[in-house]
Amino acid sequence: MNFDEKYGGGRALILGASGGIGAALVRRLQPVMQVETLSRSTGGLDLTDEASIAAAVQSLTPGYRLIFDATGALEIDGRGPEKTIAAIDPAAMAAQFALNATGPALLLKHLVPLLADGGPALFATLSARVGSIGDNRAGGWIAYRAAKAALNQIVRTAAIEVSRKRPEAVVVALHPGTVESDLTRKYLGRHPSVPAAEAAENLANAMARLTPAHTGGFFDWRGDVVPW
Ligand SMILES: NC(=O)c1ccc[n+]([C@@H]2O[C@H](COP(=O)([O-])OP(=O)(O)OC[C@H]3O[C@@H](n4cnc5c(N)ncnc54)[C@H](OP(=O)(O)O)[C@@H]3O)[C@@H](O)[C@H]2O)c1
Repeated sequence: MNFDEKYGGGRALILGASGGIGAALVRRLQPVMQVETLSRSTGGLDLTDEASIAAAVQSLTPGYRLIFDATGALEIDGRGPEKTIAAIDPAAMAAQFALNATGPALLLKHLVPLLADGGPALFATLSARVGSIGDNRAGGWIAYRAAKAALNQIVRTAAIEVSRKRPEAVVVALHPGTVESDLTRKYLGRHPSVPAAEAAENLANAMARLTPAHTGGFFDWRGDVVPW
């Protein structure tokens, strides 16, 4: 079953809809789903401020088939990823964890109760392959990698709990591929990359293949398992 057959007609909530991947996903889903969006720049949703999440949730109605978290950052307050352990900065590391790990954890806390009961219901958050410990061969980017690795553990743990009460729900971390967006603008170099629209199509295809047996996993844009 393709994405449109599986989720078409349902309601979707996209967090971080102002971002490169988030906006492309909104454009991809709008023709087939009822899409609602929340963003920091347009709606005041700040993942580092739980009160702003709780306030945003007040205006939402339960019953989402898809809740997709496309928030996150590689560079926070002008501080880019470290290349060496000598550059580790506690404040920058704390900021990475606050946004890329604690932030999605708070989204799980406030939004899982809004997933649809019965039928497909998916909570997906954008992790990153560089958060894979098993796949780390290049070093560097310590705080971002560690925050995404923590996010993966949060997703795994939450998925186990969610499956007890909602056996049909799926909670996953996704790697979108290397995507042309503000986040990667300074870092792409000669690395192969895809436009955000292509990434959104890839993610939709990967999501279509997810079943409850996949909950708690970490998958890339092809739907392949990424090692922890
Ligand atoms: N691009 C890639 O190649 C790539 C690869 C692997 C993983 N990822 C992951 O994919 C996700 C999205 O990346 P992207 O490329 O689309 O980046 P992007 O274009 O920079 O978008 C980032 C999004 O995160 C939001 N955001 C940032 N800080 C926030 C905060 N404190 N509270 C709430 N929202 C916040 C931004 O909101 P505002 O603009 O409204 O402030 C924006 O919507 C990130 O988690 C990233 O780690 C991306």
